[in-house]
Amino acid sequence: MPISDLVSDRVRGLGSGVFARNDQRKQLYRAGCFSAGLPPLLDLSLGSTDLQPPEVALEAIRAQLGLPESAAYCLHGATLPFREAVAAWAQRRFGVAVDPEREVLLLVGSQEGTAHLPMAVLNPGDQALLLDPYYPSHLGGLLLASAQPRFLRLDPAAEFSPDFDQLSTSEWDALKLMVLGFPHNPTATTGQQAWVDAAAERAVRHGLVLAHDNPYVDLALEGEAPALLRSPLWRQCGIEFFSFSKGWCLGGYRLAFAIGAEPLITALRQLKAVVDFNQSTALQAGAIAALEQAADWPERIKPIYRDRRDRMAAVLQAAGWPVRIPSMALYLWLELPEQGRAAGLDSEQFCARLLEATGVCLTPGHGFGAGGEGFARLALVHPIEQLEAGAQRMATWLATL
Ligand SMILES: Cc1ncc(COP(=O)(O)O)c(C=O)c1O
Repeated sequence: MPISDLVSDRVRGLGSGVFARNDQRKQLYRAGCFSAGLPPLLDLSLGSTDLQPPEVALEAIRAQLGLPESAAYCLHGATLPFREAVAAWAQRRFGVAVDPEREVLLLVGSQEGTAHLPMAVLNPGDQALLLDPYYPSHLGGLLLASAQPRFLRLDPAAEFSPDFDQLSTSEWDALKLMVLGFPHNPTATTGQQAWVDAAAERAVRHGLVLAHDNPYVDLALEGEAPALLRSPLWRQCGIEFFSFSKGWCLGGYRLAFAIGAEPLITALRQLKAVVDFNQSTALQAGAIAALEQAADWPERIKPIYRDRRDRMAAVLQAAGWPVRIPSMALYLWLELPEQGRAAGLDSEQFCARLLEATGVCLTPGHGFGAGGEGFARLALVHPIEQLEAGAQRMATWLATL
């Protein structure tokens, strides 16, 4: 039997097709762009920011790097200073008293936590509800747990608000987990506290776990970001995921945490004990410094994203592309323009053509689920001069369609 046949059905089922193909196109463009005299690639397909983390966080990491304990495995007991800093932050941020011993868990990125959670709370065949469009690793986590995904379509005409009445009572009763995330990637909708409260109420009523993925909690550009921790029912049903990747620009350091009902935290911790030994205490020191000395960092970077959003939208709108102004930082969720639809292009074909012609790489909306078809995601993760130049290229190309 060829070794390639020894890959599990589970992994085969992950099907990261759209993203893999997009990456391949990027590579091809990079390889050919200089000889063809085309502009360099402008990659707006990843939510990985160009903005810098707070210096106090980097300083704290540097200061601890040489210590022997920073190089040692970090068992759960050694993460207590981090968990205490998180509990103090939750108290300041949401006015909620959280037990650092039992209700907080360090993660190697919130993606790691949300992807592992289904294995901690679901049995094979259990049903779980995702928003559609969804963050891809939410689906990946369900597939790795051999769970059955169900989808709640977010309607653009309803400002991407979740309509929980789409499911009947018996469909709700059949669910074991619901994964929600507002502010929402990819639609860049801040969302409302009432939506998360309603989800918590359904979770308690129908006996399921509510996981709220909230890495953008501090990056609402309009309105106040919702949080499960603000919902009075969180201890009865839920777990919430926060990250240092977006608000503190520390994505490569893989630092995040979960706060949640004790049985859920315990289950996820047990699962993770099989998988990892937590992040180094040096990295945790950086995270603690971010929470304690640079809690305002997200507020400080928001004006940069707001400026990028407004100026990009202005260029595209002037070119006749009706851009919906997002209420959250980092992304534009672009409905394919009339010219693209008239040419019969789906989101992947549109992004492929755009890349070939302009060197600007977006993410095809279909990569975020069937509900993302007809859209493309643009990440505002480069300096405004580069973004505007990219938008001009997009506008010029649009006119040729
Ligand atoms: C909804 C959502 N969850 C999780 C992540 C990953 O965050 P982290 O870097 O903490 O793993 C992202 C990153 O884009 C995201 O958009």
